[in-house]
Amino acid sequence: MEFDLSEEHLAVKEAARDFAQNVLKPGVIARDNEQRFPVDEIRQLGELGFMGMMVSPEYGGSGMDTLSYVLAMEEISKVDASTSVCMSVNNSLVCWGLETYGNTEQKEKFLIPLAKGEKIGAFCLSEPEAGSDATSQRTTAIDMGDHYLLNGTKNWITNGSSASTYIVIAQTDAEAGHRGINALIIERGMEGFIVGAKEDKMGIRGSDTHTLMFTDVKVPKANRIGEDGFGFKFAMKVLSGGRIGIASQALGIAAGALELSLAYSKEREAFGKPISKHQAIAFKLADMATDTEAARLLVYKAALDKDNGRNYDQSSAMAKLFASQTAMTHTVEAVQIFGGYGFVKEYHVERLMRDAKITQIYEGTSEIQKIVISRNILKD
Ligand code: CAA
Repeated sequence: MEFDLSEEHLAVKEAARDFAQNVLKPGVIARDNEQRFPVDEIRQLGELGFMGMMVSPEYGGSGMDTLSYVLAMEEISKVDASTSVCMSVNNSLVCWGLETYGNTEQKEKFLIPLAKGEKIGAFCLSEPEAGSDATSQRTTAIDMGDHYLLNGTKNWITNGSSASTYIVIAQTDAEAGHRGINALIIERGMEGFIVGAKEDKMGIRGSDTHTLMFTDVKVPKANRIGEDGFGFKFAMKVLSGGRIGIASQALGIAAGALELSLAYSKEREAFGKPISKHQAIAFKLADMATDTEAARLLVYKAALDKDNGRNYDQSSAMAKLFASQTAMTHTVEAVQIFGGYGFVKEYHVERLMRDAKITQIYEGTSEIQKIVISRNILKD
């Protein structure tokens, strides 16, 4: 078993770290305060080839593997989880979904600008009554012959107002249940499509999360991904990969909290010595480091399962479950280590703590990951 990263992988990690520390870090507190989307930063990520990392060069991507993607996600998420969620949705849910299941015309028309980072994508599954229970779609896509008529509302959509291309999951045949669901590509500007209110969130405040409304939107049949009725399986397959992205985001948040805590505890003195020399703090740091390393191994395992053509439903769910728990638990500990400084924005750890929570909720709550894991380990 090989635990060392290759020269190529180390170079990707270093490039992402450099970008995160030098480009993202200076403005991250202001973007969080002002709930400002990282427009320039995402454009630069596109120029670095980080918005379509796993897409083949033929379709405008970087042709890298999933391990490269999680290495980049970790470094960027150490500093700015608002930027990394935009990157993750674009890479895992939208670009990977289009490249894997889209036809040639769809790839040429929609995938190339997304993979180059010239446009941003969004994935629209959640509804007021269908978050975890993803088969209960109320949004309808009625078959009108040469097009679908789309009606409904989607909630909590990441990249809601910054995206130009949206993959929308909708019910075409209610009687067919999950086999009556389709995935449709919607473009910004289509008549009847309105981007609604922006959510005022606890964390990842630099990312734009919106409600979307569709009223009699005419969607050409050419915009359907896969065969009629493939939409639910498309969503499940895409989300399995998406969970590797969010697991690496959670890993980055935990690793960021650990890096900050190590540096601070060596510098800050109390009772005549650095607080890292007090066992109360040293033991916290040991727990943080151990769980973060365990999360990293689970994330790498899921990425390698995907890269090596193995089923990754279970490993991605395990990675997301554990990494998000680690991020939540240890960002709270980081605030504790920083004491009063941890409670003010300048020291970054309070933002990491607020950002950590969403990793236990989106792309399937922790409870959903346990459903996926238990079904996999219990099946005959
Ligand atoms: N791959 C392929 N097919 C799959 C699959 C997978 N990973 N998981 C399920 N399926 C198939 C099943 O085989 C089944 O098909 P057949 O009947 O043909 O065998 C079909 O899908 C239905 O499966 P289930 O009966 O297991 O479906 P379920 O209703 O019990 O739901 C669930 C399963 C795991 C709970 C699922 O609903 C789920 O994952 N829910 C969470 C949804 C989610 O992650 N939402 C997040 C929104 S996106 C987001 O957050 C993005 C963002 O902004 C960052």
